[in-house]
Amino acid sequence: MYKYSISILGTGFIGLCSAACFSNKDVKVLASTHNENKAKMINDGKAPFFEANLQEIMEEVKKNNPELLQCLTDPVKAVLETDISMITQGTPMRNDKSIDLSFIESTAREIGEALKIKDKYHLVVVRSTVVPGTTRNLVGKIITEVSGKEPGKDFGLSMQPEFLAEGRSIEDTLHPDRIVIGGIDNKSGDMLQEFYEYFYGDHLQICPILRMNLESAELVKYGNNCLLSTKISYANEFANFAELVPNIDIAQVMKGVGLDYRLNSRFLNAGVGFGGSCFHKDVNAIKAWSKSKGYTSRLLEAVLDINDDQAIHIVDMAEELAGKLAGKKITLLGLAFKPGTDDMREAASIRVVNELLKRNVTDIVGYDPKANETAEVEMGKKIKYAKSITEALKDSECALIITEWDEFKELKPEDFIKHMKTANLVDGRRIYDYGKFIEKLSFRAIGRTALK
Ligand code: UGA
Repeated sequence: MYKYSISILGTGFIGLCSAACFSNKDVKVLASTHNENKAKMINDGKAPFFEANLQEIMEEVKKNNPELLQCLTDPVKAVLETDISMITQGTPMRNDKSIDLSFIESTAREIGEALKIKDKYHLVVVRSTVVPGTTRNLVGKIITEVSGKEPGKDFGLSMQPEFLAEGRSIEDTLHPDRIVIGGIDNKSGDMLQEFYEYFYGDHLQICPILRMNLESAELVKYGNNCLLSTKISYANEFANFAELVPNIDIAQVMKGVGLDYRLNSRFLNAGVGFGGSCFHKDVNAIKAWSKSKGYTSRLLEAVLDINDDQAIHIVDMAEELAGKLAGKKITLLGLAFKPGTDDMREAASIRVVNELLKRNVTDIVGYDPKANETAEVEMGKKIKYAKSITEALKDSECALIITEWDEFKELKPEDFIKHMKTANLVDGRRIYDYGKFIEKLSFRAIGRTALK
């Protein structure tokens, strides 16, 4: 018999990874989505998207305890049959770059409908990334209005930000480095904390639980993603400094900086810039939110500008090596926003392609070990898609490394010389040994200049 029953409203990365991990540890989970196909796949033990180890965990649950993970298309029923509900809906970026809270709003309504006919205390936890004030003033208010129930008395309200990175969502769900719990009152926070004490057990010896109010918890998530993005733009700005004079290597500089006991060297890799579904969305959302409150962020504006400019910079580097690119065949190695995924959202490759098109380069070929299909959905006929590295390099006059896939790291200067028309190479992710490549190729790398 299970001790906890949880409804998870939203079956994206956060929702489904939590649902799978919880149910694999004797928690009764009712996930909910309005997408019938997705619900069927989940009920058949199949992950509807790729995420490392998710499929395996879902299969284990399906085999050992299928009753513990079910997916409904009826959120009201899911809420009614559980004690805790977690909102894990997406909060996309609107055209004006502010946050779109419409999925959160409709889910709050559905929870309200359920609580209207429920007599028992129920805990609602927001785990989506939401701007400060959303849990209390949007979710809490809607549930109160629709259900006629009183927050604190009839239902609890918590906010627990999520720090999963794509490709490691299961690992991050099972072994977080901290758990942040915001609560409308002590009772709400206590109930969630007790659940995590049960779920994580000994792991909590190395994973603190931080208790705070709802709004602070909401801002922690933005604090995180904005600092990570800032570290990357800072490293890219220093890479640009490094290129101003001969013989500087940004990788060595950042290693030196990162060893300071007050810092660490993670997220200090200079390159063609960050992408993904979170950094742009969250930096823009909190920037727009602060502006709506009368404060204009200069720091975050710069973080985004520096990031966008890296795509222009890498094309400049290519032109320094190969001359005007218009009329030449250009190769992009890597299209996904990072290795290990086929996700193209806000990928640097998109910005590089747009910059090449602006410079009238029309013969662009891309190759990605996983993202060719998703890239085609995103960029259509703007570029051609090669099936192999060799095909992508054939007759090319300049190649640019955009994503640091392992198979690109294995390439030798000879491979570029053999297949390309003229072997010009720009290393946008610093994956090659500079000394070896500059000896044999017309070569440039972000944040690295030659000895003059
Ligand atoms: C990011 C955060 O790392 C997670 O903690 C957070 O929970 C998540 O967003 C989210 O808000 O949901 P993710 O977008 O999956 O996770 O990817 P990251 O591994 O953080 O990489 C983001 C981008 O930064 C990639 O394009 C990567 O190439 C780039 N990057 C990363 C650099 O350019 N340099 C670095 O040193 C590190």
